[in-house]
Amino acid sequence: RGDLLTLDNMSTTEILQLLGEAEQFATGYEWTANQQAVVANLFFEPSTRTRYSFEVAQKLLGLHVLSFSEESSSVQKGESLLDTVKTFESIGANVLVIRHPENEYYEQIKDHLSIPIVNGGDGSGHHPTQSLLDMLTIQQEFGTFAGLNIVITGDLRHSRVARSNAAALTRLGANVKVAGPIDWMEGYTHLYEHVDFDTYLPQADVVMLLRIQHERHDQSMSYSKEEYHRQYGLSLARESHLKQHAIILHPGPVNRGVELADELVEGKHSRIFKQMKNGVAVRKAVMKRAILNQSL
Ligand code: CP
Repeated sequence: RGDLLTLDNMSTTEILQLLGEAEQFATGYEWTANQQAVVANLFFEPSTRTRYSFEVAQKLLGLHVLSFSEESSSVQKGESLLDTVKTFESIGANVLVIRHPENEYYEQIKDHLSIPIVNGGDGSGHHPTQSLLDMLTIQQEFGTFAGLNIVITGDLRHSRVARSNAAALTRLGANVKVAGPIDWMEGYTHLYEHVDFDTYLPQADVVMLLRIQHERHDQSMSYSKEEYHRQYGLSLARESHLKQHAIILHPGPVNRGVELADELVEGKHSRIFKQMKNGVAVRKAVMKRAILNQSL
């Protein structure tokens, strides 16, 4: 039906096909929907990149876009997620893009809908379109995933981006390692080797930094910004140990001076703004897939 909920239930072939289509969009391919298709973007959590890159992609594909704001909706009167999505289906939405704070929110609604759901991020669960745009950025740089040394560092426990990326990149043949505070690695260390960031940096092809999600931490987990940067952040000194061709990724929003030094955000190794640009191409490919599948 064109759902995109996680990458886990998508074959490697299908992931590579989506990346191929996204690369075509990134290099000038154009496609417009040949029907009056309506998409509703339902964001129950704050977002800048995901929300607005979906909206740019949808508008450039000629889709009609409904932007929902929880604060001014009937959710404030107690309307449930199910009744909210059924309302959008009833008034003519052909695809729903949803971000929600609850892990696997889609399980409670998917069997009640006949239109596709595109997951724009669920709690600390999955963020499949972020993962696709990260993979597109890596593919553009290296042409392959096989044998690449990728270190994901930071707040993995709370990160839907890390969960989606670690699994998908491993399936595509990359050597994925994790780094950062060991207390933040719950759910990862039985699957991925935990390495010392300083020791591993000179081998890394891709350094994937994650935002510290202060809003999901209790007090006992907190470092001061300075302390985190000193122990685990990509400082200017650490950057000097990177390979010439190594790239730095971060899904954003960036805590400048915490996960990485302010100067490195726009530095020569950074592909952070390229990731955002690729977000539009990836979301065009994902919307095209959803629109074509919902109309079968
Ligand atoms: N990367 C990401 O999901 O950013 P937003 O929360 O701004 O959408």
